[in-house]
Amino acid sequence: MNVRVMLRSAVRYLLKTNPVAGQRSMSQSSLAGKVAIVTASTDGIGLAAAQALGKRGARVVVSSRKQANVDKAVALLQSQNILVTGTTCNVGNGEDREKLVRTALDQCGGIDILVSNAAVNPFFGNIMDSTEDVWDKILSVNVKSAFLMTKLVVPHMKKRGGGNVVFVSSVAGYQPMQALGPYSVSKTALLGLTRALAPDLALSNIRVNCVAPGIIKTRFSAALWQNEGVMDEFNKQLSIKRVGEPEEIGGVIAFLCTEEASYITGETITVTGGMGCRL
Ligand SMILES: NC(=O)c1ccc[n+]([C@@H]2O[C@H](COP(=O)([O-])OP(=O)(O)OC[C@H]3O[C@@H](n4cnc5c(N)ncnc54)[C@H](OP(=O)(O)O)[C@@H]3O)[C@@H](O)[C@H]2O)c1
Repeated sequence: MNVRVMLRSAVRYLLKTNPVAGQRSMSQSSLAGKVAIVTASTDGIGLAAAQALGKRGARVVVSSRKQANVDKAVALLQSQNILVTGTTCNVGNGEDREKLVRTALDQCGGIDILVSNAAVNPFFGNIMDSTEDVWDKILSVNVKSAFLMTKLVVPHMKKRGGGNVVFVSSVAGYQPMQALGPYSVSKTALLGLTRALAPDLALSNIRVNCVAPGIIKTRFSAALWQNEGVMDEFNKQLSIKRVGEPEEIGGVIAFLCTEEASYITGETITVTGGMGCRL
């Protein structure tokens, strides 16, 4: 008997002796009844994460700075039969963060999942030319707001008996990209934030994880993937010789929020097409 035939018989035997095994794995991947807040979710990776969570049954609260973008994302997700509500939220603004949380509570009745995805990069160039304003903006939006959003949602997750937080870092958090020094440092900080929060929040049955994407085809990274010279350099480091799609990150984010990932916390999953990542 070859290996494939043996495996097939083993699966058939397992399903015969444990007929609920298939159903159980289905329910473990389901997020039905859960409420998920996703920041910066009207485009790119955030929108794909909202879609992936919604397809698994979660009710999603999408948000970004511009009302027109929120309206468009809500209409798109509704057309895909996803339970969705939306509001504007600039994550760098405290009142906006509170409004986002209030929207989830008022319209969805609670919070189980936070995907903290927002980031800015106002600076390209030699790190030694970056100014205090640049550092303030990048650290405030990319790091501080990720923590402050977490702090706001945790009491509500506790009321539901637990929850999940997922941060969106970057391959640049492992290996700083030239010309993106301050941004890269902010993404390294998210790896630390993930580890700093996980032990404490595990006591409240809240898992904290992180996803570090490689180069993904979105507006944010267009300067990289639209530049042939830059992509030639990246291709040397890629095992899978193409840029990633937002959906390839969204699915991993959703997986981390399901029961299938119930023993994963404090972890960062790199999704980079095989680019080497280590600190
Ligand atoms: N694309 C990549 O290659 C890549 C690689 C590694 C990591 N990442 C990370 O992935 C995350 C998402 O990036 P993306 O590539 O998906 O970007 P994107 O496609 O350009 O989408 C950005 C989204 O963020 C919203 N946004 C921007 N600033 C915001 C703010 N201050 N508060 C709230 N929302 C804001 C935008 O909508 P509004 O304009 O309406 O606000 C939009 O919905 C970021 O954390 C980024 O660092 C991306």
